[in-house]
Amino acid sequence: MAQGSAIPHLIDLNDWSEQAVDDLLDLSVRLKKRAAVDTLQGRSVGLLFFRASLRTRISFESAMQQLGGETIHLTAASDFWDLEVQEGAVMDGRAPEHVRDAARVLSRYVHALAIRPGLGGQSWEVDRQDSTIRAWARHAQVPVINMESALYHPLQALADLMTMRETLGSLTGKKLCISWTRSPQPSSAAVTNSLLLAALRAGMQVHIAHPEGYDLDEEISARARAMCGDDAQRFATGLDAEEAVQGAHIVYARSWASTRDYGNPTLAASRRARLSGWMVDAALMRRSAGAKLMHAMPVRRNIEVSDEVLDGPQSLVYEQAENRLHSQKALLVRLLRG
Ligand code: CP
Repeated sequence: MAQGSAIPHLIDLNDWSEQAVDDLLDLSVRLKKRAAVDTLQGRSVGLLFFRASLRTRISFESAMQQLGGETIHLTAASDFWDLEVQEGAVMDGRAPEHVRDAARVLSRYVHALAIRPGLGGQSWEVDRQDSTIRAWARHAQVPVINMESALYHPLQALADLMTMRETLGSLTGKKLCISWTRSPQPSSAAVTNSLLLAALRAGMQVHIAHPEGYDLDEEISARARAMCGDDAQRFATGLDAEEAVQGAHIVYARSWASTRDYGNPTLAASRRARLSGWMVDAALMRRSAGAKLMHAMPVRRNIEVSDEVLDGPQSLVYEQAENRLHSQKALLVRLLRG
């Protein structure tokens, strides 16, 4: 469970102990084999989306429904208003309500709150603080689940661990290559950050391929290096894709934006336009040791990953997406039934 908090929030998967995550993964496997049960009858979760989602929303709603519970879903753009996050703010701006009040009120209606916060999109130094999800966790009196903030996507990392364990068995000593992909609308690095930290803790070697200018957040890299201790070879970054895939058991394709021109879409597009390649295709996969392909989706076909690889026998993308359902069921059972 989350260290340092009486309420078991889930903001960063590695806030939970390795044992707690292992227990969740074991429960995920058991729930995957079982028909629907009414374990969570009478329990409800509020889902608040400040950014769009396909998988997270539907898998969460299905998970609660299959466990006999209920979800109440709100989309910020259409259902409510801006919320102030800053403590002590004089609220004469756009936001008519403070997250302090919203979190305390909603805690009286539901048994957990799952939130995909918006991103300011102007300054990485501001967005990387994850102030909004942390404000919800500070003020809510029920568990808060991060459905993807600027820095972390713990739900995706949980499903990714489950998928890799199903495919490879023990993850200790296995090699994960995370290969940056060029996309006209790059994602945030939240998926990569959470996957990197979770995979290292599971004993994997993680080699990341990306072009110059797409380094991960320095604090995430520092945590990754610290986790490797004397075994510095377990984590490498800034590699060429051809080098990073060698000997890999998993090739994980993912786009992310450069933090160097964060908030400046013109400069960001110009940086991307200078790059060529950076798509995971059959030729790249052949350089691995028969690696499987993973992607958190949504995926831009024939831009990020070729059709041949996505639809081929190496691809785990649909199993991975399905495992969002089972691993979230496990999380919900743990949080709402103890
Ligand atoms: N992977 C993932 O979180 O997908 P959505 O953005 O569709 O929820």
